[in-house]
Amino acid sequence: MNKLVFITCLLSLFLSQETKAQEARIKIDTDRRIGRIDQNIYGNFVEHLGRCVYGGIYDPASSKADQDGLRTDVLDAVRDLNVSLTRYPGGNFVSNYHWLDGVGPERVPRMELAWARLESNEFGTDEFVEFARKVGTEPYFAVNLGTGSIVEAQSWVEYCNVKEGPYYAELRRKYGHEEPHNIKYWGLGNEMDGDWQMGQLSAEDYVKKAREAAKLMRSTSPEIKLIASGSSNYAAGADPYHWNATILAGLKGYIDYIALHMYVGNYRDNYYDFLATPLEMDQRTQVVRGMILREKSHRPVYIAWDEYNVWYRARSGDDVVGNRALEEKYNLEDALVITGFLNCFVRNADIVKMANMAQLVNVIAPIFTEGDELFLQTIYYPLQMYANNVKGESLDVFVDSPTYNTTPRFSLGDNEASTHLTDVPYLDVTAALDGDQLVICVLNRHKDNAISTEIICQQGAFTGSVEVYEVNGPDIKSENDFGKTNVQTVKKDDLKKPGASFEYSFPAHSVTMFKGKIK
Ligand code: AHR
Repeated sequence: MNKLVFITCLLSLFLSQETKAQEARIKIDTDRRIGRIDQNIYGNFVEHLGRCVYGGIYDPASSKADQDGLRTDVLDAVRDLNVSLTRYPGGNFVSNYHWLDGVGPERVPRMELAWARLESNEFGTDEFVEFARKVGTEPYFAVNLGTGSIVEAQSWVEYCNVKEGPYYAELRRKYGHEEPHNIKYWGLGNEMDGDWQMGQLSAEDYVKKAREAAKLMRSTSPEIKLIASGSSNYAAGADPYHWNATILAGLKGYIDYIALHMYVGNYRDNYYDFLATPLEMDQRTQVVRGMILREKSHRPVYIAWDEYNVWYRARSGDDVVGNRALEEKYNLEDALVITGFLNCFVRNADIVKMANMAQLVNVIAPIFTEGDELFLQTIYYPLQMYANNVKGESLDVFVDSPTYNTTPRFSLGDNEASTHLTDVPYLDVTAALDGDQLVICVLNRHKDNAISTEIICQQGAFTGSVEVYEVNGPDIKSENDFGKTNVQTVKKDDLKKPGASFEYSFPAHSVTMFKGKIK
């Protein structure tokens, strides 16, 4: 046997073993239900930071602006993203924000201390509500529990939600808003466990302040839902477990959600470690789930992942301050990580009832503008796919997939402790049943190989053909830009009457969605 034939034989033996090792099975049983998927897991976040508000959603000087100064191209992109609710006005910003500066005819310019800008306050409460109504998103306001007072928090609720009578309700009417804004969701501060937060508090002091704020706010508007500031600080020396346990014990009966935050990055340029980071989110979800159960609160408490994203490039020096802060450019591997986060929310649909990608425009965002141009970043596409299709009941899916281990010690994010994740499945799968419509989403984390898979419906069968959509791109580092869309959702050929089981080969580094009727 000559050398070439020998190498070819070895190669084909290796390849056939690879292919065999990657065969997978997915079983769907429509009787195995986890819980109702809350549409609020498809939320987003607008902060007065960099060009998120000014130059992002609001840009009166732009030729794209409508009569209210809102950019119509951004409004369209937000509508297509089907953003269920939007958190506002921060973020770290809120801990030095005084809402009265941003209403009425006289706006007060202030030094913005969190992100080092001049805040003109030209855009405030009433402008944000206008934006929210135009795009059909539910506003979610966070109050200032850093440098702000509980009375200031109460007066903002009064301004927004009380129809008439008291001073702040009348102030709103005087400013031309006859009807109340009826803001349902209110956050009690932001990241109060972080030493970067202005007015940071200890867990015990936060509980005292948040509880009193909650009393005043709910007495003003009894139907509101309150979100406590849970753990965001996982740096060495921080104690997120103590923080969450204290908050849950001290605020039960007052709060409806505990907010968790998580940002990850590919710091060591290790694709597989990075792609595993959503498993850490899943673990944190399970830990907080246990803490919630332990408290046995008569008022149910759910998890709100109200800030999550990939954020590691624009994280230091000039990239985090001023008018162009946090302008992260995303690639395909980031979009795959986002899909892992979305799968985490869907798989924990019984406890995760809210999630907000941080943030909406320009600032670590799926939508990016420059001058009068706009493009959609890679991370836009999985979020759009899920927000428009993955609804109803989340199903407990059986997945038999080949797995991998991460490197023994890798860091998830900025300054965070290292971790080791084992048995990470290449295929990450969720399914949702809405009436008779079944949607199955499959993330293939494998960088190089397609994974040929058998998909079996254990209850019933698809009654007709099944639509197939795929998010993918030429390679894991592919990015989008103005006039250049390398990563997007593509409609593939329908599966013609697949019935109760079918085979599919999930391409390397892809997200696939099947959508069809089942009986
Ligand atoms: O989203 C950017 C920042 O990240 C937010 O202002 C803050 O809450 C978090 O640290």
